[in-house]
Amino acid sequence: MLTTRLKDDNWALHQIAERQETPGSLIKGTMLKDGYIAMLQQQWLINRALDDALAPAIRQDPRVGELVLTEQMLTPYLEQDLAFFGVDTASIEPTKGTQRYIDHINNHADQPLHLLGLHYVRLGACNGNRFVARVVRKAYALGETEGTRYLDPFVEKQRAGWVEFKAALDAMPFNEAEQDSVFDGTRAAYLYAINLDLDQHHTAEQLLEKHGKTLDRDAFEQGHSVHVTTKD
Ligand code: HEM
Repeated sequence: MLTTRLKDDNWALHQIAERQETPGSLIKGTMLKDGYIAMLQQQWLINRALDDALAPAIRQDPRVGELVLTEQMLTPYLEQDLAFFGVDTASIEPTKGTQRYIDHINNHADQPLHLLGLHYVRLGACNGNRFVARVVRKAYALGETEGTRYLDPFVEKQRAGWVEFKAALDAMPFNEAEQDSVFDGTRAAYLYAINLDLDQHHTAEQLLEKHGKTLDRDAFEQGHSVHVTTKD
């Protein structure tokens, strides 16, 4: 099944992603509020680029249109969070990593299935971000929704919505080459997300080589960094 491959063949990149400065400090509750707001600002740029690219892709490939729901477009949630924190989106400048991610999206704007792979990862990340949202609310004394809509957009519907999305993806008639395109998109999404915190872009091979010895699949299976502290 496609979603089994997307999960099983990307676990190492997911574990590396969890260890990066921004996600790592958010889940530990050590990120300062300004850093959290800066993360939202960068995510606004990235998610806006992806939402903009998906709009024509949905028309181009009806299968993508069936899978990607309007409520899964994450820009509006980010805009609500940024409005809550009093940020004017017109003033946001991309970091190097953000610009690289946006360039990647724009360079693949004519490949709906690659975009679907990118979308899969931002949607899947909401599973972990729901845990991150709990820590963030506590750290900055926020209420249940204001300021954390992007991290936890679907609230109690998160799990069921993700299961439904994955079932629909597995049921969609994609041939092998098309499945490879979705997979390439998921790999790219992890890679560009990991690189967001890095000045210099690293390839997947470089990252796997750097983290290789400390990657731990059992720890990952048992509960991610929600329960397991990182080792480097
Ligand atoms: C501290 C940070 C993070 C934590 C604690 C975390 C935790 C989790 C957890 C608990 C799940 C659910 C696993 C399951 O039910 O099978 C999950 C799924 C997922 N996460 Fe993360 N995550 C983090 C960061 C990230 C980042 C930065 C990305 C993307 C770049 C990401 C992408 C995903 C994806 C795509 C899935 C779905 C996996 C699949 O079934 O294919 N996560 N994460």
